[in-house]
Formats: sequence, structure tokens, C-alpha cells
Amino acid sequence: MCGIVGYTGSMEAAPILLDGLSKLEYRGYDSAGMAVFDHNKLHSAKAKGRLKVLYDRTDGGKTLKGQSGIGHTRWATHGIPSEVNSHPHFNSSGTIAVVHNGIIENYIQIKNKLIDKGYQFISETDTEVISHLLDYYYDGNPLSTIAKVVNRIEGSYALGILFSQHPGDIYAIRKDSPLIIGVSETGNFIASDVPAILKYTRNVYYTDNKEIVHLNGNQAKFYNLDLKEIQKDLSVVEWDIFAAEKYGYEHFMLKEMYEQPKAFKDTILPRIKSNEIHLEELSLSDEVIKKLRKLYFVACGSASHICHTAKYVMEGMARIPVEVDLASEFRYRNPILEPDSMLVVISQSGETADTLAALRLAKENGIKILSIVNVVGSSIARESDSVLYTWAGPEIAVATTKAYTAQLAAVYLLSMHFGKIRDTLSTTDLNDLLTELQTIPDKIQSILDRKEQMQHFANRYIGAKDIFFIGRGIDYAASMEGSLKLKEISYIHSEAYAAGELKHGTISLIEEGTLVAATLTQEALYKKMLGNIEEVRARGAFVLALTNKGNEEIEKNADYIFYIPKTYEYFTSCLVNIPMQLFGYYVAVGKGCDVDKPRNLAKSVTVE
Ligand code: G6P
Repeated sequence: MCGIVGYTGSMEAAPILLDGLSKLEYRGYDSAGMAVFDHNKLHSAKAKGRLKVLYDRTDGGKTLKGQSGIGHTRWATHGIPSEVNSHPHFNSSGTIAVVHNGIIENYIQIKNKLIDKGYQFISETDTEVISHLLDYYYDGNPLSTIAKVVNRIEGSYALGILFSQHPGDIYAIRKDSPLIIGVSETGNFIASDVPAILKYTRNVYYTDNKEIVHLNGNQAKFYNLDLKEIQKDLSVVEWDIFAAEKYGYEHFMLKEMYEQPKAFKDTILPRIKSNEIHLEELSLSDEVIKKLRKLYFVACGSASHICHTAKYVMEGMARIPVEVDLASEFRYRNPILEPDSMLVVISQSGETADTLAALRLAKENGIKILSIVNVVGSSIARESDSVLYTWAGPEIAVATTKAYTAQLAAVYLLSMHFGKIRDTLSTTDLNDLLTELQTIPDKIQSILDRKEQMQHFANRYIGAKDIFFIGRGIDYAASMEGSLKLKEISYIHSEAYAAGELKHGTISLIEEGTLVAATLTQEALYKKMLGNIEEVRARGAFVLALTNKGNEEIEKNADYIFYIPKTYEYFTSCLVNIPMQLFGYYVAVGKGCDVDKPRNLAKSVTVE
């Protein structure tokens, strides 16, 4: 959480910082600030609230002059959202400015020591210890000063630092929080994520933990903590420049929902040649795949729902037992990691702290890691043995849509690939599945084309108190995501239940008029689901059924029906997902919620 950005070059910095921060607001949006160097001094502006407040306060950055600066958008961890707690933080003489993403775990000890030495703190943040510690160690050389500070602090950080005695220079360093360096003819950048600089450059360096970055308008240099210069390779970001713009859509979430056919296509098509799946990029030998005895699927948030779906798909197609865990649970439960197993982690950002910790735990225990990740060069991608990238492009809305759908596409590819190598899928089945997989983007589009139907239905539920999502098997996994989507953006309480479990407690919550969204896409479970629908209707529920075209007899059993195009049962999850997203979106819009930036949430959760 929190986004940092920095620019040094020949243009005015503040407008560029504000623009960059606007692309990082998904990382935190309770306050924002900037520091810019001008006339031998650091000048700053801070504002509580959305970035717009800072934008207005500085007249779009015009009132903060100077050509090098750093900026920050905050998701509060230590100290309430307030002007004094917002970044940048300074040393007492105002000659050093710091922006920080992460958490300094030993800040209390450091703070106490600095207070003993006479330092005065004005904020409640952990970050302020860094600006004072930089001051304490400052010996005229920013590199050696930063190295000393880094040896004292524990936790996670991406830092952008300005020293007024080093005009035009920006220093940066990271540990376990993302930081990329952009270079261009007109100046150089630091940022937490690519969209912040995409408008200015696609040429980036990915930094490793504890590499000190020194930028000025003309060059980018990298050093290790022994202050030896390191040579790094420049990478070119493939993402489309317009992908991080709203482009006429009312919300990023709506735009990103519309990008789902493309995200799905871009994820599968480059890996299908002559109707065969090619996943050489994983560098996994057939022998390793054949020997697999277990897969652990681990992730957070929506990506964890993909893991639940993957259990059904992977076990069904490749007959490998799958264990599913939330990363925050896996890392602390002392998991039994069996030989010939593999950890599959799924993450849009590639930076989620708990997912990264789960990965490291498995790695330390000798387990190979395969990750499904959307952000190239992210920590999870870099620390994995094999990476299967989803090609969804930048996702800005906090609630994931297109990255989720692309993750499903990746799970289908992986399961089919493993199924083929392990001989658990016949050539005919594989061919049929592959042919069908390529029809999914059009099917998603055909649902999006009927968005008004969901919009109309959603409008009735703007005042709802509780909404339940039920399903069995793979539909239960889809229901978890539908429920999360609704509650995270509309603030309506919602829960997902395995339909067979209802009578063990949840059914007592059903009242006259309670909306129950029932998903029934699996033939073998269809009748069981009809039974569950009857049970809730008998207790007054209003039932929305999400089911396949062809199941028209359901009109007798449900109150409102949304049909999805026919497809293979494994693939229904990425179709039922669409009306659920639309439902959540339109309920939230109807309630006047800030859809792209729901309260209390951040997209990239880089703290525990
Ligand atoms: C946050 C986001 C979710 C996301 C989860 C995991 O909670 O709001 O949309 O599913 O983090 O993030 P990751 O980047 O690892 O997929």
C-alpha cells in the first residue's frame, strides 16, 4: 500500500508527480504529499483526503516550482490520515525529505534512541524515523548515509529521498516493497508501479532488494550496500500507454470489465500454436510434471478464489491433488510440504506481502514455485522458479476484474497442459477443450453486451442489507468471488456459502425478500441446487439464478434468471463471473459509492 513517485529532469516536477500519483491512487488514497527542490531548498505540499485536494491546493502543481521531486499517496498504517502524518517526512532542518511505502518494524526502538539524542518527532508514523536517521548518519555522501540507515531499519520499504545539498538528485532503495526506475530523454523516474510513468517512458530498470539508486536528469546509477556500482539491464514495458487511462468510461472498473475478452485472449492465444498448448516458458520438464504428487495453491483476496476454482479444474483435468490456502494462513500454520510437490501462487500485483512470504517459506523448504502473475518484474515473479504471466495489462480499479479473468485463463492452460503430459486428458478431450477455450472471449463479450439486464436488476438492491451467494463445486468458488466483489465496492454485507451447507446454520439468516444469488452451471449438481433454491425460497428468499442457456425449466424455480452461454463446465466460472461483477458494480454505482477506490481498501497490499 502507499504509492511513491519521483521525477528529476528538464520539466517541472510537481505536475508530473501529481499525474504519477493519480495512477497510483489505487495503492492508498487517504492523504498525499510532494516535496520539490527549488532555489537550494526543499518545498512541500501535503493534503489530507484524495489526491484532488493536493491537486487543487497546488493548482495542479503550478505553485510548487522545481524540476526534481518526490510524491506519495498514503494508506495509513501508523497514525491517522492527517496532514502531519502524510509524506514526505523531513528531518528537523528540512534538508532531507523521504517518501516511504512499507512498514519499519523496529521504528519504536529507533525513535526512542533518536529522542534520547535530542531528535523531535512531529508525526505518529514509522516513516519519520527514516528522515531523522538519515540526518543522524548524514556525512555529506548520500550513498554511505543510506547504507548506514538501511543497516539499522527492519521491515519493508521502498524509499524515495531528496537531500537539499544534492540538487537535482533523487536517491531510492527498496526491500520487499516494489520500486521501478524509469529513464527517458527528458528525465528519470522512480515509482511503485509502471502506470505512474507509462505516459513518459517504457524503459525501466527493476531494482532488487537493498540496491541504492541514484538518479539525476541524465543518468541512473545503482550501487550495492558496499557502494560498488552495479550494472543493470534495461527492460521495455509492453503495456499499452492508454491502458492506464479511463478513456471515456465512468470508472476504471467498468473499463476493465470491458477489457476482459482481450485479457483472456492475450493470455491464451500466444500459448496456443496449431491447436497445442505451449508453456515452454515455465521451464518444467515432462518428468517433473509427471512426478507431481501435490500442488499447493496459495494466494490472497480474489486470487484465493482462483485457487479454489483451480482445485476443481486441476484435480479434474490433471488428477493432481490440490491443497488450497490463504497465504496469510499458510505462512503461519507450519504446513507439511511433501516431496514432489509444487507451490502455485497467484497474484495480480506480484507484491502481496502474505503471498510473497508464503512463497519464501515454501522455497526455504525446497519446494519449487510456479507463479501466475500479472506484473512483469514484480517480486513474486522474480522469486519464482517458473512464471506464467497473465496478460491483462495494468489494472487500476481496486476491485479486480480483468486480472481475475486472466488468472482463470492461466489456470485452464496450466491444468490442460499438466493433463496432457500426465495423460489424464485424452487427445480428443484436449482438442475439444482447447477449441472451446478459444470461444470464451466472444462469450464474455456477449454477456457484457447484455449489461443493461444486470444494471436493471441491480437497481432493485441498492437498499439491501444482506445478500447471499450460493453454489456447489466450482460454482461455490465463483460465488465467493461474486460475494466479495459486491461487498468490497457496495459495502453491503454479503456471504458465499456452499449450497449444501446452508441448512447447517446460514439458512436462519434468510428473511422475507433476502436476495440469494444461486449459481448452477454443473449438470451433476443441478438438481441438488434446485433443492437448495427451494429451501431458501420457502423461507422468503428472492432467488437470482445464474445458469447455462438451455436450463430454461429453472424459470419455475427462481425469481430472476441470468443465462450464460453454454460452455464446458470447467469454463463456466469465467462466464458467471461477469454478471456477478456487473451486479456488484451497478449496486455500488446506484448507491453512489466510489467504485474504483472503495473505503479502507488498497489494491496492492504490501503490508501484512
Ligand atoms: C487486494 C485487492 C484484491 C486482490 C488481493 C490480492 O485485496 O484489492 O483485488 O485480489 O489484494 O492481490 P494480488 O495482487 O496478490 O492479486
